[in-house]
Amino acid sequence: MAAQFLGKPVNRYEGRAKVTGRANYAADNPVNGVTYAVGVVSSVGRADRADIDAGTALGMPGVLGVWHAGNFPKVYRSPNEMSEGNKVGEVRPPFEDARVYYAGQYVAVVVAETFEQARAAARTIRVRHSGAKVPAVSIAAALKEGEPAEAKDEPDQRRGKPDAVPRDAVVVDATYTTPIEVHNPIELHASIARWDGDHLEMHESTQWVVGQRKALAKVLGIPAEKITVRSPYIGGGFGGKLFLWPHTVIAAVTARELGRPVKFVLERRNEFTAAGHRPETRQRLRLAADRGGKLLGLRHESISSTSKVHEFVESCASGSFAFYDAPNAAVSHRLAFANVGAPTAMRAPGAAPGSFALECAFDELAVALAMDPFELRRRTFSFEKDHEKNLPWSSNGLKECLDIVSRRFGWSRRNPEPGSMREGDEILGWGMAVAAWPSEQGDAEVLVQLRDDGTARVSCATQDIGTGTYTVIALTAAEVLGLPLDKIDVALGDSSYPPGPISGGSMVTATVVPVVADASRRAIEALRRVVGKKGGAFEGQDPKSLQWRNGEISGGGRRRLSFGEVLKAVNLASVEGKARSGSDKEKKFSFRSFGAHAVEVRWDPGIARLRVSRAVTAIDAGRVINRKGALNQIEGGFLMGLGMALLEESVYDARDGHVVTDNLADYLMPVNADMPELDVTLLDKPDPHIGEFGAKGMGEIGITGAAAAIVNAVYHATGRRIRDLPVRIEKLIA
Ligand code: MOS
Repeated sequence: MAAQFLGKPVNRYEGRAKVTGRANYAADNPVNGVTYAVGVVSSVGRADRADIDAGTALGMPGVLGVWHAGNFPKVYRSPNEMSEGNKVGEVRPPFEDARVYYAGQYVAVVVAETFEQARAAARTIRVRHSGAKVPAVSIAAALKEGEPAEAKDEPDQRRGKPDAVPRDAVVVDATYTTPIEVHNPIELHASIARWDGDHLEMHESTQWVVGQRKALAKVLGIPAEKITVRSPYIGGGFGGKLFLWPHTVIAAVTARELGRPVKFVLERRNEFTAAGHRPETRQRLRLAADRGGKLLGLRHESISSTSKVHEFVESCASGSFAFYDAPNAAVSHRLAFANVGAPTAMRAPGAAPGSFALECAFDELAVALAMDPFELRRRTFSFEKDHEKNLPWSSNGLKECLDIVSRRFGWSRRNPEPGSMREGDEILGWGMAVAAWPSEQGDAEVLVQLRDDGTARVSCATQDIGTGTYTVIALTAAEVLGLPLDKIDVALGDSSYPPGPISGGSMVTATVVPVVADASRRAIEALRRVVGKKGGAFEGQDPKSLQWRNGEISGGGRRRLSFGEVLKAVNLASVEGKARSGSDKEKKFSFRSFGAHAVEVRWDPGIARLRVSRAVTAIDAGRVINRKGALNQIEGGFLMGLGMALLEESVYDARDGHVVTDNLADYLMPVNADMPELDVTLLDKPDPHIGEFGAKGMGEIGITGAAAAIVNAVYHATGRRIRDLPVRIEKLIA
């Protein structure tokens, strides 16, 4: 039967609430008697001790307390295990010791009756540093102090004889670097902590209410049942709100100490230091091929920076091992420990910088072979199986994506000679790259209630970080129940709902869609059972003989009735269906999404202006649930890739470890004026193995490959191979 709802372009379920201001973000929640926390951060990047003099602050109006390493109550470390759901952003809990590991680290916190009072008092806090040293804030500086460490989470991988390259092979050996980047959601990280006896309620901006609850329980040393985390609306996360950060712990602990609710909203500059970032990467790629474009060897060695207080690996090279048909391959990840805050997952972690290096190296190989880059991908990509897991892809529409992109872009008109395609004063550059992102699934439980008012309520403790989860869930329930969208309530972002997945790794849609469908059907079953019972509208009928259609039930020659009516007749508020995802799925396939980008840049050498003018993208991420939301995700992802390619860089001062660009004026991000003409095709083919409807995630694949396609286009326009992001005009005119 043709879908009634799935795949249609639909406005956001929560759009009206958001634009009318009815959607409360974490910091918007009115909480009686709330007090305000303001952090005091270290002004140096490394010191043996920071001692705090709060004398002035404590005497100021409205000040309720000042905490620091000398007086902060005991908190624990979390085991920090993803599988246990207690992962944290920074394993060192706030104020665990008096040492300074990075500039911007919280060394004290002031809580006062008003935000202004807290801020004024925070400015009077004197911090005396002893044993201050010049911090190491870059990979280069960190490596001067010691060898890079093995990355425990990303073991080295090899196959064949990656070191043996035939003498006559065509070889690319190049090193690519990417700078620290920062998520910069428009909604700042925010926590409001309120204790009710021994129960803690958190209004929190988080991508994972379930995990936040578990991690906070570990850090506070209390049972998770004593904590409720709410996060129904989130103004962007991009990975920066996946895990527990120090400000949340500070809010919870100071609220307990004061017996008053505490609100802690980060200042924009704190976003650059104490709430995660994408680490710096340095990646060496070595590709070897024969003259016909057959790959002989592939090596990808990645070093990424991490914090002295937290180990995070940017897994740049794992896709490289999986994707290409190189008989000999080796990939490795190493860490350089720097005096920076903890890095974390950001916008396709690993794959975004990894695909930049990998797909640029393939472009360099295509140039060296004098082969069209699309053709090189067709000859070298492993369309059948994942070489890392040694499993067939569950589905892989990359070949079709390459054909669509090349055709829609008009690639056949490309003259491969750099700088050869002119239009007036401008030189056109055309580049391409492959996009790929895992299609993981987590675990979820979903509750569907059919209520006597004729509406259905779907609840799950996952959350919508702005990416469209409310709408995806509403559409799926509407499809299975046959109810119009305005009869569906979706309740998300509350840890007391049935447990749902982290809003990370683009896995929510693939995880929840089959479970919502299952729970919806179970709710219909429950209704069938109820109406056949004594006093029911279909008393005496076999439940199996009753027909459900578009919210109405019929059978046995009796009148068709809406489910609201039949529930009212037996005085039931609701019937329920609950479902959970199968937790022991046999792994017979490797699940990924694939796609391709082609990009046009325009370089005007007379005025040194570089613009991305046009991009064509095709994505195979399985069945499309909400066409409008899915396109929106891919467009946004591509634009993030544009930011990565041309603009974004968190610049540190090597002398004191400060972030120089710690605001939205100096940290450049793409805006609407940077948006090229963007043509996105979604293959919209169900993945046959991922579960009912065959949907995969759309969140992160759009950014993968995007920076490489742009940089490859810049090479084609200018003849300059920029290997260090971002591409700044000064690098092109140097
Ligand atoms: Mo995504 S970086 O897993 O929020």
